[in-house]
Amino acid sequence: MYCVRKVTNDLYWVGANDHRLALFENCFPIPRGVSYNSYCLLDEKTVLFDTVDWSACRQLLENLAYVLDGRELDYLLVNHLEPDHAACIEEILLRHPKVKLISNEKAFMLMRQFGFHVDGHECIEVKEGDTFSFGKHTVTFVGAPMVHWPEAMVTLDVTDGVLFSADAFGTFGALDGKLFADEVDFERDWLDDARRYLTNIVGKYGPHIQLLLKKAGGVLDQIKYICPLHGPVWRKDLGWFIEKYDTWSRYAPETMSKVAMYDVSSTHVSQLISEAFKYSHIVLASVTYNLGIYPAMHDFLMDMKALNLQNRTFAIIENGSWAVKSGDLMQKFVNDELKNMTVLNERLSLASSMGTDKRTELEALADAILESMK
Ligand code: FEO
Repeated sequence: MYCVRKVTNDLYWVGANDHRLALFENCFPIPRGVSYNSYCLLDEKTVLFDTVDWSACRQLLENLAYVLDGRELDYLLVNHLEPDHAACIEEILLRHPKVKLISNEKAFMLMRQFGFHVDGHECIEVKEGDTFSFGKHTVTFVGAPMVHWPEAMVTLDVTDGVLFSADAFGTFGALDGKLFADEVDFERDWLDDARRYLTNIVGKYGPHIQLLLKKAGGVLDQIKYICPLHGPVWRKDLGWFIEKYDTWSRYAPETMSKVAMYDVSSTHVSQLISEAFKYSHIVLASVTYNLGIYPAMHDFLMDMKALNLQNRTFAIIENGSWAVKSGDLMQKFVNDELKNMTVLNERLSLASSMGTDKRTELEALADAILESMK
């Protein structure tokens, strides 16, 4: 059964929701599911913008057939080659033997590398700044390398101001009928997943996101809709969400006044990373374990390094019953492996238990954190 939503008069969402996948990229829990967004433009020519994950291929085909209503599919425009969006390219080629492909040089290389039989089809290679007309609608292409793969690009429909933004502005979470961000309470129900998506999937590539935002800045007044490959479509308050992306990709904290506490041994590291991007100060509290840092805390630190987190202030609490080592090791990791971090000199060092004799040390640590916020 088809399930589509109209985005504009000529544009339909023809993607799919996935509630069966437990771990996105086999890494990240997605208890609210995920959507694979694909869009179909009905102009003098018909155009499909990206496909979906293989697991959702049948849904895409049914949606596409409904929207095309007997028309041929003329073009398949590919902005991003990662398989959660590109896995159905081959199937579209098989079912629409006359379809022409539009993408860039790197993407065509990857299509061949994935074994898609694109060479029996007309392959139209585009580069940044090129324009292409489908009739009433003209699109232009903007490179978005490393947001999230090197071939990634975004496409702007200059006629209706629709930005097909690939992974940028995506979030975890299935749509379940609510296509637009203004149909949900995004800040309450989606923002944490949006941050967790960005920080864990493309957090490493903050400078590349900044470059894309800079390019988008030049045409911001033309953008009326943002159509990402995951999560809701934006048609209102675009600036609010763009500002969030700007904050996260500059590694700037969202808040200095709120406090949250997590047990690293029972909180998924993707959630810890999302929170680390949110807050300005991070207190690491770890026991000494096998004369090292507690493994879950070590994983968290390793992920901070992998995802390029920067510009935070750390305080350290250590514990151990015979060799209290974790504090020095965490401090060394933060100083040597992470960028632009500050570690406060005050440290709470515990031997087995927190006694009243440690009250002064604890208060000194708390005061130091407050002082560093001024
Ligand atoms: Fe959702 Fe980089 O793919």
